[in-house]
Amino acid sequence: RSAGLLLVAALTPVFSACSGVQSALDPAGEESGQVARLFWLMIAGGLPIWAFVVALSLYASRWKLEPLREDTAARVIFWGGVVLPVTVLAALLAYALWLMPSLRPFAGSDDATLRIEITGRQFWWHVVYKRPNGVRVVSANEIRLPVGERVEFALTSDDMIHSFWIPALGGKMDLIPGRQNRLSLRATKVGTYRGQCAEFCGTSHALMAFPAIVMEGAAFETWLNARSRPSSGVHAPGTGRALFERNRCGSCHRIAGTQWQSTAGPDLSHVGSRLTIGAGQLASGSEALASFVADAGAVKAGAHMPANSHLSAAELTEIATWLKGLQ
Ligand code: CUA
Repeated sequence: RSAGLLLVAALTPVFSACSGVQSALDPAGEESGQVARLFWLMIAGGLPIWAFVVALSLYASRWKLEPLREDTAARVIFWGGVVLPVTVLAALLAYALWLMPSLRPFAGSDDATLRIEITGRQFWWHVVYKRPNGVRVVSANEIRLPVGERVEFALTSDDMIHSFWIPALGGKMDLIPGRQNRLSLRATKVGTYRGQCAEFCGTSHALMAFPAIVMEGAAFETWLNARSRPSSGVHAPGTGRALFERNRCGSCHRIAGTQWQSTAGPDLSHVGSRLTIGAGQLASGSEALASFVADAGAVKAGAHMPANSHLSAAELTEIATWLKGLQ
């Protein structure tokens, strides 16, 4: 009985990991669907071979039965040890070879009508959306995709090697300084998923994540067009903007519609409408923004953003409120 319990304990995490916002086995895209199907087929194909080997070793070691007759033993070995594995493995190989062309990272990207350029930084993501009609939107730490549309990703890095991976949709693909990698994905299910840097890139590698939001086509179009204009929140009353300026936040951050255009740090043009701040670390809100501005390193060790311990709580709130208003 204890062996049975052990088996259940060992398998629980295996099966509970099959669903969720960051699981390659709970696919919401064409590419991840193919990978998940291949995975389950390999499990299904491997099972009979595994069962045969286990049965044979149990027979040999535990059950002190009469030895098999020589011709029966030869038949068992021929069918179970040769025919079964050769058939199963050949079928799996054939399926994998057939699947390979469509699993090339940039398969079908010539049909893509949306291009998303992503640059990895320690420890965040610079994101630029581009449409053939000239629409260009700069963002950071969040990716939105229209459902059913093929999207081409152009991936590079400014410092370390990072890796772009949205398990529920597909990937992964390295972001390498000085070169551009391509990846093409097509999401098939509306929802919010989680992407994660998949290549060790420094202290906060594990904290380099992002929400990946798959939207209906029309909603995505509305969202993208709204983002191609500056947020009206830049003119909001209050002292937030003046404090942002006095504190020189603009020497690293870009905000569309203002004089601040540096891309050394994440783009903040519509930061108030993002689901998270700090690349997937805190649920967005004025309080979270204030604590991140106060001491980014406390949320994310190794972040290049300096602490702002000289700002009072009231000043932090003013800045955070203004940033939250950038919708
Ligand atoms: Cu970026 Cu790990």
